Amino acid sequence: MIIIKAGGSAITKKSEDFTPNMEVISNIAKEIKNAGRVVILVHGAGSFGHPIAKKYSLGKGYVDEFQLKGFSETRSSISELDTIILKALMQNGLTPVKIGTFSNFITSNGRIVEFHKEPLLRAIELGLLPVFTGDLVFDKSRVFSILSGDQIVSYLSKLLKPSRVIFGTDVDGIYTGDPKKEKVKLIKEVSEENIDEIFKFAKSTGDASGGMEGKFSEIFSIFDLGIEIDVINLTEKDNLSNALQGKVKGTVIKKKNI
Ligand code: ADP
Ligand code: IPE
Repeated sequence: MIIIKAGGSAITKKSEDFTPNMEVISNIAKEIKNAGRVVILVHGAGSFGHPIAKKYSLGKGYVDEFQLKGFSETRSSISELDTIILKALMQNGLTPVKIGTFSNFITSNGRIVEFHKEPLLRAIELGLLPVFTGDLVFDKSRVFSILSGDQIVSYLSKLLKPSRVIFGTDVDGIYTGDPKKEKVKLIKEVSEENIDEIFKFAKSTGDASGGMEGKFSEIFSIFDLGIEIDVINLTEKDNLSNALQGKVKGTVIKKKNI
């Protein structure tokens, strides 16, 4: 089994609110279908989630009643993106099923403490393709919290021990800084020898759920489990197909002895 995180930077146009990147979504669907492997797809919210979450300061948890409007709007908007993705998967002959993040997860201080796993396990057993999204959830200490798709991926990695995890964004992997802002180098391989180093390369992405730093810390906990993580560019056709076959163009993060 392979867990794929399709980042909001790839599946939506981050510069235009509420705009899906249909070409990327459709390629992801085709490439998953052609690979014929058991996968779980976790996707981000991109411009369907972060702008509203920021406007209503939802990342801080509950502060004021004014946030409730933003809470409703964010969840509704994310669900629209989710539907677009489910439709694209179905149009390509796959049988996806949404596993609701809001209904199945509870966090405490932003970290998952409860997950109702039975729907997921039964969906896998039946041969359905489970689809998760980053979303808002209820939180034991902050009332509510943003649960990123990245954290869902690391949680599911502990639970299911996939053979590999693929993170896809709109850049070619992990660089020595933000490739959109600086002249930087792509890091092709990460192992126990240089994993600590990559943290200093995490530059803020300005999103509402921890950005690159958040992503790196989830990657770190998956790495600790001894699972290979591949970071690829999902906006380039065939990159996912190739990665699913083990031909990764991007950053490969794994312990030397696996
Ligand atoms: P997601 O697609 O999961 O939402 P983010 O938008 O949070 O991903 O992160 C991807 C973005 O992070 C890239 O578009 C890139 O501009 C930025 N970034 C910042 N620091 C780095 C880094 N060291 N390596 C790669 N990308 C980085
Ligand atoms: C964010 O999910 C969810 C909300 C903004 C409520 P992610 O953190 O997984 O989304 P991306 O991949 O960064 O867009």
